[in-house]
Amino acid sequence: MKHIRISITAFKVYLNKNNLYHLINSIERKTFASILCLTLLASTLAFAETPMTGTNSLTRQRTSINEDWRFYKYDWTTKADDLIYDVRPEVKNYQDVKPADAKPTEAEAVEATKMVLKPWILLAGNDFIKDPARRYVRPEGNPGSNFPFVQNDFNDSPWESVNLPHDWAIKGPFFAGDNPEVGGGMGRLPSPGVAWYRKKLNIPATDAGKSIFLDVEGAMSYAIVWLNGNLVGGWPYGYASWRVDLTPYIVTGGVNQLAIRLDNPPNSSRWYPGGGIYRNVWLTKTYPVHIGQWGTFVATPEVSDVSATINLEVAIDNDSKNDVTVTAVTQIFHLNADGNKTGDAVATFASQKTTVAAREKVRVESSVTLKNPRLWGPPPTQTPNRYVAVTTLWQNDKPVDQYETCFGIRSLHFDPDSGIFVNGEHIKIKGVNQHHDLGALGAAFNTRAAERQLEMLREMGCNAIRTAHNPPASELLELTDRMGFLVMDEIFDCWERKKTPLDFHLIFSDWHEQDLRAFIRRDRNHPSVIIWSFGNEVGEQYTGEQGAALAKQLNNIIKEEDSTRPTTAAMNWSKPDMPLPAVLDLISLNYQGEGIRQAPEFEGTDRIRTSPQYAAFREKFPEKVILSSESASAFSSRCIYLFPVSEKISDIVRDGRGGDSKIRHVSAYELHAVDFGSSADKVFGSIARHPFVAGEFVWTGWDHLGEPTPYYDSRSSYSGIIDLAGFKKDRFYLYQSHWRPELPMAHILPHWNWPERVGEITPVHVFTSGDEAELFLNGKSLGRKQKGPYEYRLRWDDVKYETGELKVVSYKNREKWAEDVVKTTDEPDRLEASADRNAIRADGKDLAFITVQITDKNELTVPRANNLIQFSIEGPGEIVATDNGDPTNFVPFPSHEREAFNGLALVIIRAKAGNSGSITVTAKTTGLKEAHAVIKSK
Ligand code: GAL
Repeated sequence: MKHIRISITAFKVYLNKNNLYHLINSIERKTFASILCLTLLASTLAFAETPMTGTNSLTRQRTSINEDWRFYKYDWTTKADDLIYDVRPEVKNYQDVKPADAKPTEAEAVEATKMVLKPWILLAGNDFIKDPARRYVRPEGNPGSNFPFVQNDFNDSPWESVNLPHDWAIKGPFFAGDNPEVGGGMGRLPSPGVAWYRKKLNIPATDAGKSIFLDVEGAMSYAIVWLNGNLVGGWPYGYASWRVDLTPYIVTGGVNQLAIRLDNPPNSSRWYPGGGIYRNVWLTKTYPVHIGQWGTFVATPEVSDVSATINLEVAIDNDSKNDVTVTAVTQIFHLNADGNKTGDAVATFASQKTTVAAREKVRVESSVTLKNPRLWGPPPTQTPNRYVAVTTLWQNDKPVDQYETCFGIRSLHFDPDSGIFVNGEHIKIKGVNQHHDLGALGAAFNTRAAERQLEMLREMGCNAIRTAHNPPASELLELTDRMGFLVMDEIFDCWERKKTPLDFHLIFSDWHEQDLRAFIRRDRNHPSVIIWSFGNEVGEQYTGEQGAALAKQLNNIIKEEDSTRPTTAAMNWSKPDMPLPAVLDLISLNYQGEGIRQAPEFEGTDRIRTSPQYAAFREKFPEKVILSSESASAFSSRCIYLFPVSEKISDIVRDGRGGDSKIRHVSAYELHAVDFGSSADKVFGSIARHPFVAGEFVWTGWDHLGEPTPYYDSRSSYSGIIDLAGFKKDRFYLYQSHWRPELPMAHILPHWNWPERVGEITPVHVFTSGDEAELFLNGKSLGRKQKGPYEYRLRWDDVKYETGELKVVSYKNREKWAEDVVKTTDEPDRLEASADRNAIRADGKDLAFITVQITDKNELTVPRANNLIQFSIEGPGEIVATDNGDPTNFVPFPSHEREAFNGLALVIIRAKAGNSGSITVTAKTTGLKEAHAVIKSK
C-alpha cells in the first residue's frame, strides 16, 4: 500500500486529473489492463484534489470539475435561442433608481404562449417537496435535444476557455451614461443575458452501475442542464446550491457531453448579481445505496463543559431496483484548526441497521454522549473548535458509502432581556451585512478573498455576519465555522411581491419550498449559523393576515428541517400590532429601532416614516429576542471630506450636506446616512439605551457592487465600512473604537493636506477606545475633551486649518491610552507596495492582495494623489484585477492600469497552478519611483 501511494504521488507531478483522462482517451484502443490501471489512478487523483471536509472515501468520489469549460454568451444584439425556462412579463420603462425601502408591488401573471422547459426542470426539486402528491413527473419528450449546443459532436473550440468559478460579467465593460443597458442598481456590468457552458466528462467503464450526480453550488441563473443531448433538469434560483442526477443519461467507458444554459434576466436584482457558474461544481459518484444529498443532520441539544449530547440523523437513499439492508456506523473525530482530522475517534454512535426499499429513502436517528467536549464559540473569549462525524454504510459486511459531516458543539440561548448566549456567555452581536460579491473579483467565489474580508472585519471587532439577502457560498460558512463568526443565514429578498420586475417573485410560488428546504439542509450542520432569516423587507409586510399566513408557511418549512435555531425575517415596515412579527421567533428590525425619517423635513412624506420602535416591540413581545438586522446604512467615500461639516450626530445626504452629486461622493466625516438610516454614532446610542437589544448588523461591512445609493450613476455602493478594494474608511475606526474597547487606539480625521483652506474652519474628529483626548495642532493644545453619555466620537469643530501636524493623545480612566498623528505631506515622491501575505499556494486559486500607496519622501501616504499607475508581473503568477475603491470609477477591473484613489490602489494576483517560484509585481507611474512586491508561490 505504501509503495502504491509513493508511485501515485510521483505520477501526480506530471498528470492532473484532466490530462490523465485525455491520456486515457488517447490510448483507448490499447490494452484493457492499461485503461483499468490509469482509471484507478485518475480516481485516486480525484480523491487527492478534494477537500477533507467533502465526502470522499473509497466508496464515494466527489471530484471538482471546475476546469476546462467552454463558454459562449449571446451578445446584446443577438437574439438568444428559445430554450427558455418560462415566459416573463414584459418590462417597460423600468427605472432602477428607486429607494431601497420602496414598497414592493404585486406580481403580474403571464400566460405561456410558447414552449417552455419548466415542466422538465421542476423535477429537480422533488427531494425537497414534502407532500408526495405535489412532486413532479417528467413529461414526455426531450426538449432541446436537437439544438446544436447540446450535441456531443458540436464544435465548441471557438468558444472561450474558462475555469470555474466564473463570473461572465465582472470583466465589464461598465455601461456609463444615461439609460444604460444595465443601470447602477445592478452595477452597470453586463450580468444579464443568455450563455452556455460545455464540458466533456470522461466516465470510466468501472463507473457502470454507480449513481452519478452533478452538484452545482451556484449558477446565476435559470440553469438548464443537458447531458449527451438529453434534458436532465436544472434550477432557476441563482443563489441556490443544487444537484441533478446524471445517472440515466451517462455513458460509462466514454466521453459524455455536458451542456448548461443560463439565462440571467435584466431588471432582476437590486444589486449586482454576477452571471455564470460562479461557485464550485462537483461530480459525485456513489453506489446506488448511499447517503443522500446533505443527508446528515447533527444537533447538540445538551452542552456543558463536561459533556455533550450529540444527535445524528442520516438519510439513506436507495437508487437501486432492489430492497437493501444496510448498517450505518458513525464515529466522531476532532478537527484541528486547519480542518484536518486528528487522533482516534472520540465517540462512536451505536450502529443502526435498516432496510431501504427499492427507489426509496430512509432516515435513521441516533445519539451519543461525548465527555469533555471542546466547544465551538466565537473569539476572542471562546475558540471555534470543530469535529467531524464520519458515517460509513455497510452492506453485507462491505462498506458502500462514507460521508463526512463537519460540526461544532455549542449551546445557544436566546434571552429576551439581554440577547444571545453562546455556551452560557452573553455575546452582543457586533455584526455586519455582507453581499455575496468579492469586489473586483465579482461573484466568482474565492475562498481567500472571502477570508480576507472576514479577517478585516474581525480586526474591527465584528463577530457576526448577515448574508444579505441570499444563501452564501458554502465555503463562506466553512470560513465562519473555522474563524468563529456568528451567522444570520438569509435566503430571500422577496416572496410573492416584487421589488424589481424580474426578480425571484417570478418563481417564488413554484420553488420556495424546494429552495427553502435545500438551503436549510445544506447549512444546518454549520455551528456558525445561529439564526435562519427567510426574508428581507418583503412586500408581505404590507398584506396583513395574508402576508403573515405565508410567513407561517415558510416558518413551518424551516422548523420541519431544523427546529434547533430561531427563525426571523427582517422588517422595515411591520409594526408590533401587525400580524407578521407574531409569526417570527426573533424580531429583526431594519432601521426601525432608531426610527425612520424622523427629521421634521420628512413630515408629510409618502415614504416610510416611523418613530423609534425598540420599546414598542419589547412591550408587545416580551418573550422574543429583538435585534437590528440592518442598522445605519451610513454612506461615505474613503478619504473624501466635504465642507461644511454637519453639527448633528446623524444627517441625511444632500448636495452641500455631506454629499456632492457632481463628483458623486459622500463625506468621510461619517455623519451621513440614507434617508431612512442613521449614523453609526446614533445607532450605538440607541442600542445602548435599549440593553435588551441583542445587537446590530450594520449595513454594510464591505462596499458591494451595484446599489450605489445615493448616486445611481456610479457602479458600487457607498455604505461599506470598508471600500470595494478593501481599504478602510474612517468609519472602520469608529466601529473598532466601540466594538474593541480593550484595544488602545485613536484615529484622527480628516487628512491634513488642505492648501486651499488655510485659515478656514476645518473640523477635526477623533475615534478612540479611550474616554477622553487632547488634540494638538503643531504642538499647541486645542483642548482636552471627554465623551459624554452616548457619545462615541470627540470633535473639535472650530479648528482653523494651518499646515503641519495634528496629534491626539487619548486617555482611559485618566491614564494615557493611545495616540495618533496626521501630518501635512510633501509632494508625491514614490510608490510603495505591500502584500497582505508574502507567500501563497501555487494552486491556481490562492491570491495575494497588494496595496500600492503614493507616498512623499518621508513615506507618508499622500491623501489626495490620484496618479495613474501601471502594473506588471513577472514569475509564475498573473494579475487578476485592479481596483481603487472609488464607486465612480468605470475602468474595467481586469485593467493593468488604474488611477490611485486618494493615494491608494489595489492589485490582486493569483499564483499559477503547480508553478512555484518568486512572483514580482511592479507598480510604476510617471515621475515617481516605482515599487515592487515579491511574493513566493509554493
Ligand atoms: C435596505 C435593504 C438593503 C439595502 C439597504 C440600502 O432597505 O434591506 O438591501 O437596500 O436598504 O440602504
